[in-house]
Amino acid sequence: MTMTPAEQDRVLIFDTTLRDGEQSPGATMSHSEKLEIAALLDEMGVDIIEAGFPIASEGDFNAVSEIARNAKNSVICGLSRANLTDIDRCWEAVKHAPRGRIHTFIGTSPLHREITALDMDGMVARIHDTVTHARNLCDDVQWSPMDATRTEHDYLCRVVETAIKAGATTVNIPDTVGYTYPRESADLIAMLLERVPGADTITFATHCHNDLGMATANALAAVEAGARQIECTINGLGERAGNTALEEVVMALRVRNDILPYATRIDTTKIMGISRMVAAVSGFPVQYNKAVVGKNAFAHESGIHQDGMLKNKETFEIMRPEDIGLAATNLVMGKHSGRAALRSKLSDLGYELGDNQLKDVFVRFKALADRKKEVYDDDLIALMAEASLSD
Ligand code: KIV
Ligand code: ZN
Repeated sequence: MTMTPAEQDRVLIFDTTLRDGEQSPGATMSHSEKLEIAALLDEMGVDIIEAGFPIASEGDFNAVSEIARNAKNSVICGLSRANLTDIDRCWEAVKHAPRGRIHTFIGTSPLHREITALDMDGMVARIHDTVTHARNLCDDVQWSPMDATRTEHDYLCRVVETAIKAGATTVNIPDTVGYTYPRESADLIAMLLERVPGADTITFATHCHNDLGMATANALAAVEAGARQIECTINGLGERAGNTALEEVVMALRVRNDILPYATRIDTTKIMGISRMVAAVSGFPVQYNKAVVGKNAFAHESGIHQDGMLKNKETFEIMRPEDIGLAATNLVMGKHSGRAALRSKLSDLGYELGDNQLKDVFVRFKALADRKKEVYDDDLIALMAEASLSD
């Protein structure tokens, strides 16, 4: 999938929840769960779904094949190491898709070269042979130099040029161990675009891990420098500290379109639904304060914030809950809540209080809130019953 010049202001979203996400220890998903997630990803406008690693197991092969058969709009991609057997197996699975992609990779940093026992020239020859083979099978081929951010720049230019000459249509630059930081991530893409012959004929992708909590910032910095595909997962699921979170980059591109003027095809109102689904099937709950999809991302407890929210939602929210598929902002009633929020909450529950009544109920509410972390609707109903009995 190469973009025309007119599409250059669009960023492709490549979701790898079913491949890199599933590689999280303990996040294994069943066949039917994978099909369901793939259908949701397709429906929400993900451009490319990395559906699995077909050589890894019979189960992975079957899941990628079936996801490929069911695909409607998304390109279906499978991962393969840099050998012909892996690539053939990958093609056998993705070829059923209306649009399939082979993604092949090899570790190019000194550490990885040592492990694969290939010298620099040997690795270049391997890249040439495997990408050529993949391209003979499929006209959409993605190639990744694993651990790119710890690969010598001269050598990285050489291997990227080799992959492009052999027919790669997308070159992905992985920050495999979450080592880079935003300025460096941008500089790397800019350097490749400037130095590698043919770099302007392919799409550069950014694939970041979150070991230092910078995956989203690093991905967006790469986009600013010219990358046009972001690799990400729902809820940031992924090995160790996870991958770039889809919901974060998509909402950042939307909210800060003034400085990041790139569009995606994502229907953001589907974000919350798929986030809950992935959390449920992977068994990885979303942390409460997780950006965009955490339970507290649209919740306010402090009196000042609740008062501001009741007057104008933009005071303390930069996104609208409905934009990510949430019904409404949640004003959490607790010991930091003020009178205005209590009045509004009680009104939602059907109680219209005069000023004196509110004063009395507010005292009772504060006493209760001191004992409880959160005061729920049922607590408020009980409090109102208690207040009317003592009138
Ligand atoms: O993090 C990584 O390097 C990967 C590659 C296989 C693309 O996931
Ligand atoms: Zn990865």
